[in-house]
Amino acid sequence: MKKVIVLGSTGSIGRSALDVIRMHPDRFDLVGLSAGSNADLLACQAAEFGVDFIALTAGGPLDTRARHIFLGDEAATQLVKESGADIVVNGIAGAAGFLPSLEAVEQGATLALANKESLVIGGAFITAQALKSRARVIPVDSEHSAIFQCLTGEPADSLSRIILTASGGPFRDRPAQTFRHITPQEALSHPTWSMGRRITIDSATMMNKALEIIEAHWLFETGLDRIRVLVHPQSIVHSMVEFHDRSIKAQLGIPDMRIAIAYALSWPERLPLMLPSLDLDTLFTLEFHPPDEDKFPALSLAHQAMEQPATLPCIMNAADEVATGAFLNGRIRFDQIIDLVRETMDRLSASTATSPEELIGLDRVSRKIAESILS
Ligand SMILES: NC(=O)c1ccc[n+]([C@@H]2O[C@H](COP(=O)([O-])OP(=O)(O)OC[C@H]3O[C@@H](n4cnc5c(N)ncnc54)[C@H](OP(=O)(O)O)[C@@H]3O)[C@@H](O)[C@H]2O)c1
Repeated sequence: MKKVIVLGSTGSIGRSALDVIRMHPDRFDLVGLSAGSNADLLACQAAEFGVDFIALTAGGPLDTRARHIFLGDEAATQLVKESGADIVVNGIAGAAGFLPSLEAVEQGATLALANKESLVIGGAFITAQALKSRARVIPVDSEHSAIFQCLTGEPADSLSRIILTASGGPFRDRPAQTFRHITPQEALSHPTWSMGRRITIDSATMMNKALEIIEAHWLFETGLDRIRVLVHPQSIVHSMVEFHDRSIKAQLGIPDMRIAIAYALSWPERLPLMLPSLDLDTLFTLEFHPPDEDKFPALSLAHQAMEQPATLPCIMNAADEVATGAFLNGRIRFDQIIDLVRETMDRLSASTATSPEELIGLDRVSRKIAESILS
């Protein structure tokens, strides 16, 4: 039995992780859960699994029999520190996931990582600490899980290129000159995946792929010049790896995050899952084409951000969290999201940060600057 905690248990990833654990009660002992503000669902989940440790960042009241309760901004990090878990699933949305991830690797736990922001903000700290404490970081993001699966069993020096696939989002074929009229409701209708609000908007602007390029850089120690993005509207090929003999391996499957979560929980084994098979009997096509970087300028921002990897990715992420929120609240248009991110990055390009604490400070400053540009 592995002791597991699920951070962000009330969200899309968190609920899928609990589903996997429900399917395998003999393998996993769920000891802790965390949420942002959804106290009612957190309490229900805690009662169902009989967990002893729970953390809630904001809101309440919390009706629970859990013996250890952590509240406030540092609640999730304290939960990781105190619970003694073997595996930490991090499904928190946004920069709030960074310090809990860092704590997980400091504790030497296996970090099953969905919160890509952890690596975007502080990839250098997380990878260095994981090396020191021999903690494993196993990706949950479907593209990175696919790459991880393709690389398993292959010599480390045989990797030539990573090919990250992208659905292209709901506006793949929509003319760029109409982007100013896109409504939040349209942007929240992802063609293939059902996810949280921020990642769904990020998929529509392709900022999600920009974050994933940086995530792949840290996870697989690969330069950006060897990470390629290909639009694949069917979301069946979750990503590919090219080796130096020019052989390409891909991982395919239905778009269901429980597959990647289960793999991260059970690696190097595979757990049986009661899910439908990919339908190979009905005729289907797999299309791939390069992304249109003029229409989706977020992709080039990832390259710009990695010119100063210690600070600009953190600023880019913080500004994007503000910008997507502002779009969802009707304060800016869809086509202004990336403009706001770019302008915030430009204004803070001289920043420095040499510790995780300074990165948290930079995240706050970036949000303030983005807000001031907004107003
Ligand atoms: N959804 C997917 O299919 C998918 C796929 C790949 C990667 N990811 C990544 O996984 C992460 C989670 O995405 P999601 O789609 O599951 O998001 P989501 O549905 O919005 O869920 C986010 C979770 O984080 C919690 N949370 C929000 N703000 C918090 C804070 N300040 N402190 C602590 N907890 C907080 C939420 O709690 P409340 O419910 O209480 O607000 C919720 O449990 C993101 O980094 C995303 O990029 C998601």
